[in-house]
Amino acid sequence: MSERQHQKRSGWRFPPERRHMLWDEEREKRLPPELVLQAAGTEPGATVLDVGAGTGYWTLPLSKLVGPEGRVMAVDVEPLMVDDLRRLVQERGLTNVEVVQSDELHIPLEDGIADVALLGFVLHEPPDPVAFLQEVARLLKPGGRVAILEWQKWETEVGPPIEHRISTDEARDLLEAAGYRAEPISSPHEDVHAWLGIR
Ligand SMILES: C[S@@+](CC[C@H](N)C(=O)[O-])C[C@H]1O[C@@H](n2cnc3c(N)ncnc32)[C@H](O)[C@@H]1O
Repeated sequence: MSERQHQKRSGWRFPPERRHMLWDEEREKRLPPELVLQAAGTEPGATVLDVGAGTGYWTLPLSKLVGPEGRVMAVDVEPLMVDDLRRLVQERGLTNVEVVQSDELHIPLEDGIADVALLGFVLHEPPDPVAFLQEVARLLKPGGRVAILEWQKWETEVGPPIEHRISTDEARDLLEAAGYRAEPISSPHEDVHAWLGIR
C-alpha cells in the first residue's frame, strides 16, 4: 500500500444543520480568535485563506486583522455555509472578504496568492487530507504557511466523533506527506492541538 493510500480516511462532514453550534460565547472563551491568529503569524496587509470557513467564526477576526490593505478568501464546500458567509459579509459590510464555493479537492482560486491559510477544525473532514493539503499548498506564495487547529484525539464536551479526529502526530505526518515542514504552535486550549505547515 502506498503512503498516500495509507493516509486516506473514511471522511466526515460537520452537519450543516448544526452550524449554529460553531459560534457561541463558550467557544469564544475556549478559542479566543486573536490569540490563535497571532500564533499563526497573520499580519495586517496579508492575503489569507480561511479554508472550511463554516459560518465565519475566524473570517470576522481575520478581516479585522488584515485590515483594508489585506484580503480574506473564505472558502467552504457546503452551500449552506457559503450562504451564511455571504450574508455575514453583506451584513457587516466586509469589503476585504471574498466568499468562495469550493469542491471537495478543488478551490477555484489562482496559484500562489496567499500568505497564510487557516484550517480551523477542517483537516479531519476530507477523505484525502494529503491531497487537500496539497491543493491548499497550490494557493500559497513561496514561504507561505498553513495553520491547522484540530481537536485532540480524546473525549471532549464538543467536537467530532473520536474515530474521525486527527491526533497531533497524525497532523504532523499529514503535513509532511503533503510537502510542508511541520512546526507545532502554541494551542489556545488543552483539548486542541495546533500546527504550522511551511512551504
Ligand atoms: C467543523 S467545521 C469548522 C468551521 C470553521 N472553520 C470554524 O472553526 O468555525 C468544518 C468546515 O469545513 C468544511 N469543509 C469540509 N471539507 C471541506 C473541503 N474539502 N473543502 C472546503 N471546506 C470543507 C465544512 O463544510 C465545514 O464548514
